Amino acid sequence: MEINNKRDSFGSKIGIISAAAGSAIGLGNIYRFPCELGDNGGAAFLLVYLAVVILLGIPVMLSEFVIGRRSQSNTVGAFQKLVPKSGWSIVGYMGVLCGFLIFSFYSTVSGWTLEYILKAITNSFRGKDLATIEQEFIDFHNMGWRNVLWQAAFIFLTGYVVFKGVKDGIEKYAKILMPLLFVILIILGIRSITLPGAKEGLVFLFKPDFSKITGDVLVGALGQGFFSLSLGMGVLITYGSYIKKNDNLTSTAFSVVFADTLIALLAGIVIFPAAFSFGVKPTAGMGLVFNTIPMIFNQMHSGYFFCVIFFVLLAIAALTSTISLLEVVVAFITEQHHIKREWATVIACCITLLVGTFASLSLMENSPFAKDGYTVFGMMDFLSSNILLPLGGLLIVIFTGWKLGKSQFFDEVTNGGALKSPLKAIIFFIIRYLAPLAILVVFISGLIN
Ligand code: TRP
Repeated sequence: MEINNKRDSFGSKIGIISAAAGSAIGLGNIYRFPCELGDNGGAAFLLVYLAVVILLGIPVMLSEFVIGRRSQSNTVGAFQKLVPKSGWSIVGYMGVLCGFLIFSFYSTVSGWTLEYILKAITNSFRGKDLATIEQEFIDFHNMGWRNVLWQAAFIFLTGYVVFKGVKDGIEKYAKILMPLLFVILIILGIRSITLPGAKEGLVFLFKPDFSKITGDVLVGALGQGFFSLSLGMGVLITYGSYIKKNDNLTSTAFSVVFADTLIALLAGIVIFPAAFSFGVKPTAGMGLVFNTIPMIFNQMHSGYFFCVIFFVLLAIAALTSTISLLEVVVAFITEQHHIKREWATVIACCITLLVGTFASLSLMENSPFAKDGYTVFGMMDFLSSNILLPLGGLLIVIFTGWKLGKSQFFDEVTNGGALKSPLKAIIFFIIRYLAPLAILVVFISGLIN
């Protein structure tokens, strides 16, 4: 199948890394990671998470890059081009569906970051105690349509950037702002670990209790690993197709995994010492991050100033992630159905908002879209992160290991023999045997649970 669209590509090596890291680093690191870790017993979860990210994250990411760059195509087109007339393009369709699903609930939380920017600017946290801040978070959820409005604003913002195209849109923002997020997390971390009673939080985060490693912890860590690294739905296949032929895919994958994990760890170091110090339970779920962070700023010199910057950066981190989610869908619509980029963006945003509205409204007390503590939001999150992403990842490594095969894989990671890539054999072994097995075992143990 020939596509006569001229493909955009990333301008520089640092451009790819920042775009891929921009996709990876987001609410998954700063909001979802602490929630999952808190729910799953702390340090034991961290340990499993690190194993997932290093052992599976790098090989799966590299597989996606290889599939994308070799095919020069979107997630669906990629499989069609590499093995024409086979069933493999189903992996791509699954990815597009998953992209919609994640964007739908992810935009809910992204919308909160806008509300919190407003709260920060109007100095609305100042002098308030934890109980008040917690109550205001609940009150905000109960204003369902206000959530939807912010969500709509965020989807619009994402659409605007994606509409302007890959190079100008994604690269420019990610390059400068992600390092800034890193700096502010360091500052917050220092404040957090010097709070009274902070030590307990560090113990919770770093001292593993191995008896806490259960099937749920394994599934949660696997899902979180895939979610945080943007794996399993073809974001990095799509981005891989924009990577230049002479760039080093392996080192790019290493850099992205390293940056993403560092930010998640830092988020843990910010949240848990402070949460223990203020008396927020690690199992507090959604409130864990949104209530703890304002409390830290309340205890900080120039707290007002830092608080505003923090929530602005959080919103931007979310934006570089939603951009990648939307980009998968838009690349699919434009290339497979020959619809103009502008229209593809509008269509995708409207559908997302429609579905996403249910996610937002399901968080109100007594919402018709929630039952017995199960919300539409939670279900979309669970279905995509703990089921679709690992399943997508499984199929992607099987495809790379068994269908694409060693010679094509080596050819792509060495740029046709130009690069040495000393780890290629080990990584390919993991892709072919270890990764499918590990994902399958965790997956099945989770289903049995
Ligand atoms: N990785 C992002 C985060 O941690 C979210 C995200 C963006 C994502 N694109 C994705 C998750 C693709 C899974 C798949 O916030």
